[in-house]
Amino acid sequence: MKPFLALTLAGLTAATPLLAEDPRWRDCRTCHAVEAPDGTVLARGGRSGPNLYGISNRALAADSGFRFYSADLRAAGATGARWSEENFIAYLTSPDRFLRAVTGNPQAESGMHVELRSGAREIYAFLRDLSQ
Ligand code: HEC
Repeated sequence: MKPFLALTLAGLTAATPLLAEDPRWRDCRTCHAVEAPDGTVLARGGRSGPNLYGISNRALAADSGFRFYSADLRAAGATGARWSEENFIAYLTSPDRFLRAVTGNPQAESGMHVELRSGAREIYAFLRDLSQ
């Protein structure tokens, strides 16, 4: 009985990182990874977008290791705006529209060309939980 229990618990522990396989993350991982400050990769992904570690309530355009932020996302960051759940959902729904609203510049354009019809709230919760 005991070895079986130990095996089951080990299985559960090993399964925890599978959170990274949240199906909605597939829409993001081509370009984004989630990497803790100590280098632990919490969710594997590409590097053409900023690291999304701790994105929940993080300042806009605040990944110091990412060199390709658009001028307009930086301008939005300069307003002091943060990635609240509401801002995150608005951005994922329409990045350009979000940046135009935050910067007041009707020509603002995002460097990210992804628009989600649904699931942004779940991805936000997933990223928040992953970063804790
Ligand atoms: C094709 C590549 C690509 C995909 C796919 C993609 N992104 Fe991005 N993302 C980017 C780039 C590039 C930026 C920087 C945009 C800019 O500077 O205007 C960015 C920026 C962001 C930011 C702002 C980060 C910050 O530091 O302020 C968030 C949040 C974000 N993406 C979330 C997501 C989520 C969630 C998904 C999946 C639904 C996703 N992205 C899919 C390329 C991508």
